[in-house]
Formats: sequence, structure tokens, C-alpha cells
Amino acid sequence: MSVSPHSHVKTVMYGKVRLYTGTSSPELASQIASYLNVNLCDRDIVTFPNDNIFVKLHKSVRGQDCYVIQSTSIPVHRNLMEMLILIQTLRLDSAARITAVVPYLCYTRSDKKDQPRVPITARLVADMIEVAGADRYMTFDLHADQIQGFFSIPGDVLYAYHVLIDPMKELVSKMEKPVMVSPDLGFAKKARNYASSLDIPLAFIEKRRLTNAPTAKALTLIGDVTDRDCIVLDEEISTGNTIGTAVKLIKEHGAKSITVVFIHPVLSPGSAEMLASLPVDNFITTDTIPISKEDLAFFGDKLKVISIAHLLGEVILRANQGRSVGQLFNE
Ligand code: R5P
Repeated sequence: MSVSPHSHVKTVMYGKVRLYTGTSSPELASQIASYLNVNLCDRDIVTFPNDNIFVKLHKSVRGQDCYVIQSTSIPVHRNLMEMLILIQTLRLDSAARITAVVPYLCYTRSDKKDQPRVPITARLVADMIEVAGADRYMTFDLHADQIQGFFSIPGDVLYAYHVLIDPMKELVSKMEKPVMVSPDLGFAKKARNYASSLDIPLAFIEKRRLTNAPTAKALTLIGDVTDRDCIVLDEEISTGNTIGTAVKLIKEHGAKSITVVFIHPVLSPGSAEMLASLPVDNFITTDTIPISKEDLAFFGDKLKVISIAHLLGEVILRANQGRSVGQLFNE
């Protein structure tokens, strides 16, 4: 995919682009703003002594095309509420259109009743975004694509594939015997798409979660990793248990080198230190979620962060101009 800044199109269907951000993704939001050659809009976000959040916009957004950029990462509930309150504030100020730009959408792992007496919180979050007043949403790599069906507003579900595939091609070009490893059968379909674009074989790990506790057990390796350069690909790393178990398993099976690629750096407390101690040569991720300085320090130069900012900026530009987003990806 190639994106060129400030594409020249005369048809402007919506009001001016107004970018707002909460406190979760300030760096990503300013990179998007500079791609679009606009400033982030000023607003106050205040937390009262009773822990309630209050928002005030500095300027009217009446008739404007507003985007709220906010990853619903840790601290999840604070970030989610900030986003919802920002959206409601824009709605009450008569914005013409509001898009929730949520590079990482929380609660997507709870997307079905797979046991009795449990919630479907992915649906609840989708409802909350709509009820707050969003007209559209944008996000990256949902845990399951069917979650799109929980929204009745239109959305652009984007794929980090478009920013990750070129660096991965470069990596593979330096490898002798590469193989893609999916640490989880649930991710196997996406891993297969990456493997086929890279023209490399695929191996799988069968993982079974035994309880609701955030522990995972890798049981079986399907495919050949012996003496191979392994690229372990997953959609997110939270505790790091899944990747940790996968790395140990393929190491035991004689992996020559290991690169871990993951889309959403959720990185729950303690995970970065544990991941950095694994026998992994390189990590590659994106900035759908900002990584703290402390966690970056654990990884050192083993970690490369590929930005989604230009891709998201271009999608926002096209949405504002009423142009196809699919065409950006030759669809
Ligand atoms: C699972 O369905 C996902 O693809 C990831 O494997 C999982 O979310 C990673 O979680 P953790 O790092 O806590 O094992």
C-alpha cells in the first residue's frame, strides 16, 4: 500500500476535519494531525475528586466532521469513558458527523456466550459507542471480524497487515529457511494470509485455555520449525503467556531464530520484562497502543514499532472527502 499525503480531490462532502483525542493516544493523534496538516482541537479533560470525568471543548464543532482518536487500552475504563464522554460532548455541540477512531478496541475477546452465565462485552462496548453519539467507527484488527456485526453504524475495520507486510518481507529476504508460526489456531487464518503473501510455509500451535484465568497452555506443534527462522505472529500480547509458551515450544523443537510480530501491544503489567527475557531475536509491533518508556527500555533495540498513523490519516482524509477506503488497498 502506498499513501501519499494530501491527495488532491475536489469533492468535499462533509464539514472540516476536527481531530480530538483523549489521554490514551496523544502521540499517534499528533502524527495523524501532522499527516492531515491540521492541529488537534483543544479541549479540557478534568477528573473531579469523585473520579468522574468532565470534558469541555474550546471551540464550537457545529456542522463539522469530528474524529475522536482514542485507544481503549490500559487503563481501559478510564480511556473508554473519556472517549464516550468526548463523543457525547461533540454530539451535544451539534457536530455534523462523529467518528470514533479506536485503534485498539477493548473487550473484543468477550464476543460470544461460550459458557453459561457470561456476558458479551464486545457487544456492550459497541452499543455504548453508538449510544454516546458516534455515527461511524474506525478500528484495527478486531479479535473476530464478526464483531463488526455488533455495530449498526458503518465502520472501517483496518488491518495492520498493510503496514507490517513490507518490513516482514524485508526480514524474510534475509532468512534462509523462514516459517510463519501461529501460536493459536484461532489466529491461523490470518497467519496463513501473511504466510502466503510472504511465500513461506506455516506451522501452528494448538493452544487450549483451560480456565478463565489468563493462562494458556501450548499443547501441540503442527508443522516443521527445526533449524528454521521462525516468525511467530499474533494479534495481541497481553500477559505474554501465549507467546512465551509458543517460543519455548518451538525452541525445544529446534527453531534457529525467532522473531515475534504482534499487532496490538496490550502489554499488561509485568509482560514486557518477561517477553524481553525470552530467547527471541526481534520483536515487531505497531502503535495501535502506546508503549510506555519503561516497557520500551525492557525491549531495547530488539523492538521495532511500525506506525499506523499515516494509514489512519489517509483513511480519515478519504472518509472526510467521501472517497473509497477500499481503493486505498486495491480492493
Ligand atoms: C488470543 O486469542 C489472542 O490471539 C492472543 O493469543 C492472546 O490475546 C494473547 O494473550 P496473552 O498474551 O495474555 O497470552
